[in-house]
Amino acid sequence: MELEAVAKSYARWAPVYDRTFGAVTHAGRRRATSFANHVGGTVLEVGVGTGLALPFYAPHMQVTGIDFSEEMLAKAHERVAEQGLRHVRELRQMDARALDFADESFDTVCAMHIMSVVPEPERVLAEMARVCRRGGHVLITNHFAAEGKGALARIERMVAPLSDLLGWHSDFDRARVLGDARLELVEEDGLPPLGLMTYLRLRRRD
Ligand SMILES: C[S@@+](CC[C@H](N)C(=O)[O-])C[C@H]1O[C@@H](n2cnc3c(N)ncnc32)[C@H](O)[C@@H]1O
Repeated sequence: MELEAVAKSYARWAPVYDRTFGAVTHAGRRRATSFANHVGGTVLEVGVGTGLALPFYAPHMQVTGIDFSEEMLAKAHERVAEQGLRHVRELRQMDARALDFADESFDTVCAMHIMSVVPEPERVLAEMARVCRRGGHVLITNHFAAEGKGALARIERMVAPLSDLLGWHSDFDRARVLGDARLELVEEDGLPPLGLMTYLRLRRRD
């Protein structure tokens, strides 16, 4: 999607996101935050959206979130204030293709349900690898295109032209998040509901 389409789409999604897509995708947020909490230290959540994952981080964490959509970020700010989430250090408006952070700034970098949304996912992946410390992890949860000719693959191809309306690409290829030589895939798992989402843990090489 182009950035302008992302902004328009998520301005529409912001008021209803938590009760719709957000409500059925908690498994990925739980999985990624539980790993980040186990490692401890600093986390960057790229495409933090309305901040649905923010309450899942442990109080000892230091969490930074960025998102391009002002409307989604406003919801995240409300959540932080209402729930007194003191582990959230900063929420900033930013394009994930040009992260305004120094190299190796974070122990863990999370991208939950955003890789099939952002323009130029390879560039976003490169930025996430750059700001992740050596030995740290990039955690991705996303829906990837079903392989073959099954019913799901057919539906994904049918709705693919509606990506600007939907707010994401339904037929997003998993290989697009595995191409950065600095990152090695160390864990992969299907997530409920129905294994439609996948959790990937990538380690930044030393
Ligand atoms: C499906 S939502 C996921 C939000 C959140 N991570 C979650 O799991 O609920 C996708 C988010 O990616 C953000 N996004 C899309 N392109 C972006 C970009 N280039 N830079 C920063 N955020 C972007 C959108 O604004 C939206 O909030």
